[in-house]
Amino acid sequence: MRIEENYSLRGYNTFRLAVKGRWFMEYESEEELVRILRDEFFQETRSLHIGSGSNLLFLNDFNGIILHSAIKGITVVGETDDSVVLRVGAGEVWDDVVDYAVSRGWSGIENLSLIPGESGAAAVQNIGAYGVEIKDVIETVEAYNRLTFEKQAFSNASCGYRYRSSFFKDERNDPYVITYIHLRLSKTPRYTLHYGNLKALAAACSPLTLPDIRRIIIDIRRQKLPDPAQTGNAGSFFTNPIVPSAHYEALKKTYPAIPSYPMDGDRVKIPAGWLIEQCGLKGKTYGQVGIYDKQALVLVNLGEATGDEIALVAERIRTAVAERFGIKLMPEVHYVES
Ligand code: EPU
Repeated sequence: MRIEENYSLRGYNTFRLAVKGRWFMEYESEEELVRILRDEFFQETRSLHIGSGSNLLFLNDFNGIILHSAIKGITVVGETDDSVVLRVGAGEVWDDVVDYAVSRGWSGIENLSLIPGESGAAAVQNIGAYGVEIKDVIETVEAYNRLTFEKQAFSNASCGYRYRSSFFKDERNDPYVITYIHLRLSKTPRYTLHYGNLKALAAACSPLTLPDIRRIIIDIRRQKLPDPAQTGNAGSFFTNPIVPSAHYEALKKTYPAIPSYPMDGDRVKIPAGWLIEQCGLKGKTYGQVGIYDKQALVLVNLGEATGDEIALVAERIRTAVAERFGIKLMPEVHYVES
C-alpha cells in the first residue's frame, strides 16, 4: 500500500493538469482495499477513486483522498471450445490487456486498441470505439461496497450498460469499487468491421489477422487523436448527443450532409465533432486550450492550461452548438471540484 500527502496528480490525469491531491492512497490487493475502506480517517474524508484519469477534468487541487487501484494480473478463469474468460485486475492498463488478447489470438477487444485508461475505469465508463463497446465482452464485474465492505459479483445484465455509462457511473451507486473484470473473448476470429472505412482498410490484408486489425485501429487513432503522452487531452470531451428523430429531420433540411446513426426509440445519434466543426470552432485556440484540428470533439492542453480554462472553452462550445442546432452537448469528461 502506498500513501502520499500533497501528491502531484499530473501523471494521474491525461489533460496533464498541474493539480495536487491532499492524500493519495494506492492499494495492490483486495485485502489492502478493505483495510483502507474500514479505516476511520478514510470514512470521514471525502474521496475519489480514479483510474489513470483519462476522463477527468480537475478544476482545482483535490482536498481529499485520491484512491487508486494497483491490482494487476490477467488470468484465464474459464474456457470452452470457442471462448476464453479472462479475469483482469482493475489496475491493469487497458491497452496491455488488448495486446495480451490479440497476441494469443483471442478476439473481441481488438477494436478497443489504444484507448487510454485502466481496466476498472473502462468497465465503469463502458468504453467504446469502432463499433465495439466493452459491454459486448464483459461477463462479470467484481466490486466491493465501500459502506458494507462486502464483495459482490455483477453479471453483465446487472451492470446496467448504456452508451458511455453503467450502473457504477451513477452517483447513487458510487459506493462500489471495482477490483476485477471478467471478459469473454472468442477463440475463433470474429471481427467487427462495419464502422467507417474499417472494412475497406481491412480488405488490403489477406488473410486478415487480429494483429492486422489492432494495427489498423492504432493507425486510425494516431491520425485522428492526440497522444496524451505528448499533448494533454481526455479523448472525446462530450458524448455524441442523441436527439428525437423529428429534431434530426428538421436539421437535415438545412444541413443535408449531417451525419447520423439511428438509435432505438425513434432517436438519432449525431456526432458532436461534426456539430462543433460546423460552428467554425475546429482548430481554434483560446490561450492554452485548443480545439483539436483533426477531431473537434477533443480539447487539448497546449501546455499550462488550468481545468477552469478548459471548462470555459467547453462552455463556449456548448453555447455555440446550442444556439445553432438547439442541441445541448453533455460532457463525457467528469469534472472534479476541490
Ligand atoms: N466529424 C466531423 N468533424 C470532426 C470530428 C468528426 O465532421 O471534427 C464527423 C466524422 O466525419 C464522422 C463522424 O463525425 O462522420 C464521427 O467521427 P469519428 O468516427 O471520429 O467518431 P466520433 O463520433 O467523433 C466516437 C467516440 C470516440 C471513438 C470514435 C470511433 C464518443 C463520444 N466518441 O467519436 O471515442 O474513438 O467514435 O468509434 O462516442 C472517447 O470516448 O474518448 C473517444 C475517442
